Amino acid sequence: MWTLFFKLIVIFFLFLLQIDISKADFVYHGLENAYLTLDGAAQVADNGLLSLTNQNNRYEIGHAFFSDPVQFKNNVMSTSSDSVSFSTSFVFAIVSDNDISGQGLAFVIAPSRGLPGALADQYLGLFNDSNNGNPANHVFAVELDTIRNIEYDMDNNHVGIDINGLKSVQAKFAKYYTDKNGGYKNLSLTSGKAMQVWVKYDGSQKQLDVTIAPVKVRKPDVPLLSLSQDLSAIFLDSMYVGFSSSTQTVETFHYILGWSFKINGEAQELDISSLPELPEPKEKAMMLYIVSIIMPIFVFITASLGIFFFLKNRKFTELVEDWEEIYGTHRFSFKDLYRATNGFGEKEIIGKGDFSEVYRGVLPTSRKEVAVKKIAHDSRYRMQQFIAEIVSIGQLRHRNLVQLYGYCRRKGELLLVYEFLPCGSLEKLIFPSNSSASRATLNWCQRFKIIKGVTSGLVYLHEEWDKVVIHRDVKAGNVFLDADMNPRLGDFGLAMLFDHGSIDTLTSKIAGTPGYIAPEMNKSGLASTRTDVYAFGVFLLEVACGKRPVEIRTDLTGVRAVHLVDFVLSCWGKGTIVETFDPNIGSEYVAEEIELVLKLGLLCTHTNSDFRPTMRQVMQYLNGDATLLQTDLQVLDTCDTVNQAFKRPEVYLGNLCSHG
Ligand SMILES: *[C@@H]1O[C@H](CO)[C@@H](O)[C@H](O)[C@H]1NC(C)=O
Ligand SMILES: *[C@@H]1O[C@H](CO)[C@@H](O)[C@H](O)[C@H]1NC(C)=O
Repeated sequence: MWTLFFKLIVIFFLFLLQIDISKADFVYHGLENAYLTLDGAAQVADNGLLSLTNQNNRYEIGHAFFSDPVQFKNNVMSTSSDSVSFSTSFVFAIVSDNDISGQGLAFVIAPSRGLPGALADQYLGLFNDSNNGNPANHVFAVELDTIRNIEYDMDNNHVGIDINGLKSVQAKFAKYYTDKNGGYKNLSLTSGKAMQVWVKYDGSQKQLDVTIAPVKVRKPDVPLLSLSQDLSAIFLDSMYVGFSSSTQTVETFHYILGWSFKINGEAQELDISSLPELPEPKEKAMMLYIVSIIMPIFVFITASLGIFFFLKNRKFTELVEDWEEIYGTHRFSFKDLYRATNGFGEKEIIGKGDFSEVYRGVLPTSRKEVAVKKIAHDSRYRMQQFIAEIVSIGQLRHRNLVQLYGYCRRKGELLLVYEFLPCGSLEKLIFPSNSSASRATLNWCQRFKIIKGVTSGLVYLHEEWDKVVIHRDVKAGNVFLDADMNPRLGDFGLAMLFDHGSIDTLTSKIAGTPGYIAPEMNKSGLASTRTDVYAFGVFLLEVACGKRPVEIRTDLTGVRAVHLVDFVLSCWGKGTIVETFDPNIGSEYVAEEIELVLKLGLLCTHTNSDFRPTMRQVMQYLNGDATLLQTDLQVLDTCDTVNQAFKRPEVYLGNLCSHG
C-alpha cells in the first residue's frame, strides 16, 4: 500500500517535472533574476548584464545555461514525438579594447549544463581537440565567430550553424537584409554595439532560420541563414540551452543583455528599452571626461587668449569691404605696415604734408624697403573708385615712375605703400634748407638728366600706358631720386585715369599744389594732360632757377606773392632770361640746354592751354629730335602773367590729398 502510494507520488512529481520541462518558455530583460547556471568567467552584474568572459584574463571560458533541462524529444505537449520546434531570441555585444577581439560566442543546445573538457581557445568553449566534430557530442550551436580559424572558418566576422563541431554546416558574413530583393547591410560583430539574434527551428518543416540585426532595427523578413535539415538526430530527450564563449589570447567582454526562449512556439519579443545598459566604451568614457572637464578649461583658455589677442590687435583693425577682394594682392595688412615702420615711429618719418606723413619701412617678410604714406582720408570719398585707381596705378611700370606696391585702409586713414628711394625728393636737393649741412646741390648735368627722366615718365603716363593717367601733382617735391640720381616721379595720390580719346574730364574739386595749378584748372576744375604740362613747366623753371614757384615778398607795396613763372616771363620779355638760372649749378653747363629748359618752361606754363606743347613734343625738343624755333616762341607774346590769368586770388588748397 505504502509502496504503491510512494510510487504514485514519485510518478506525480515526475509528471510535474515533465510539465515543468515542457513549459520551457521564458523571457529575460537583463539576467539578474534569470534561472541560470554559470561557470568559468561568466557572471551577472547588478544591472542584469551577463558577461560570459571579461577583460581581466586571457584564455577564459564562460558558460551560462538555463538551469532546467528542456525536453526536446518525446515531449508530451508536442503533437508528434520527433518533431520538436523551438524559437529563441537574444541580444549580445562583444566589446574589446583591442583592434581584434576574442573568439566570439555561441548559442548552444547541449546534453549537459557545462561542456566538460572544452578548451578556452578556438572552440568557443564548446569542444576540445579530440571531440571537435564527433557526432556523439549532440551539440547544436549558432556561432558568432570573430576569429578566423584557417582550418574551417571563412572570415573573422561570420554567423554559422554548428552541429557537433566548429566546422559550420552553414555560415555567412554577418549582415542583415534590408529588403526582400537582397539589399543588405554589413555588421561588425566586434563593434561593441548591441545586436539581436533570432534562431527558429520548425520541427515539422525541418527548417532552421537564423537572423541577426542591430538592436534598433526590427527583425528582418529574410533570415541570414536558412537550413533545411532534420535536427532530431542531434537532440537527446532532454537538453540544456545556453551560451558559451572563450577569449583565447584577447581579453574581451562577451555580453548577453536579454534572452527569450520557447519550446514549441514563438519566443517572446524582447523589449529593447528594458535591456540593461552596456558600460561606456573606454574612448567614449574618455570623451565624456574630456567634454566635461577638459573642454571647459580649453574653452576658457581659448576665450581668454581670443580676448587678449582681440585687445592686442584692436590697434590693427582695418576696413576691408567685399569689393576690395578683387584687389587682393595690392592690399597690405596694417599689422605688417605697423611692424615695417616701427609702429609709425617718429624716427622713420621721411616726409610730411598737411594731412599726411611718409615713413620709411622694411616689410617683415620680404625685407623690402618701402615708403609708406599715411593719409588722413575723407571717408565720404568714393573709396572704391579711388582704390581701383590706386590699384591700376600699381600696374604702371616705368623706370621714371615710383612703383606703387599697394595700399591699406583703416577708418579715416589710407596708407599707400611705395617703392623706397634712398636719395629722397628732388626738392631737398634744389632748395637746400639753411640748416642743412650739405649745401651741395645738383650740377646742371644731373638736373638735365632728371628733367629728361621726368619727361619720359610723363610721356608714358599721358600716351603710352593703357589709360591716360593725369598725375595732377607734378612738382620737384614729388620727384624722387634713386642711388644713381635717376629721377622717379611719385605720389599718385591725386592721379586720375581716363580712357584714351577722352582727354578732358571735369573734376569736382580743384586739386594740386598751389603754384603748379594751371589757370583753367583753377577756374573750372578741368583737369587734363595739359594741366599736367603746366605743372611740369613750373617744375622746369624751379629746377633751372633753383627757386620755389611762389615766393612771398614784403616790400614797400606790402606783402605780395611773386610767381616764378611771371618772373621768368618778364625776363624773357626783357631778353635776360639766361640770367634767371640757378647760380648753384656750378660752372660746367651747356648754356643752350639751360635756355631750352627755360623757354620750354614758359611754353608749358602758357596761360592758354592750347599753346602748350604735349609731353611728347617736350621730349623731342629736349632730346634734340626737334628744334625750338623763334617762331614757336611767338605765342609767348599772347601769354598773360599768372596774376592776370587768375581772375581771383589763387586758392591755397591746404589738403593736398583731397581727391575729387
Ligand atoms: C574532450 O572532451 C571530452 C568530453 O567533453 C572529454 O571526455 C575528453 O577528456 C576531453 N579531451 C581532452 C583532451 O581534454
Ligand atoms: C560587406 O562585407 C563583405 C565582406 O567583407 C564585402 O565583400 C561587401 O562588399 C560588404 N558590403 C557592403 C555593402 O559593405
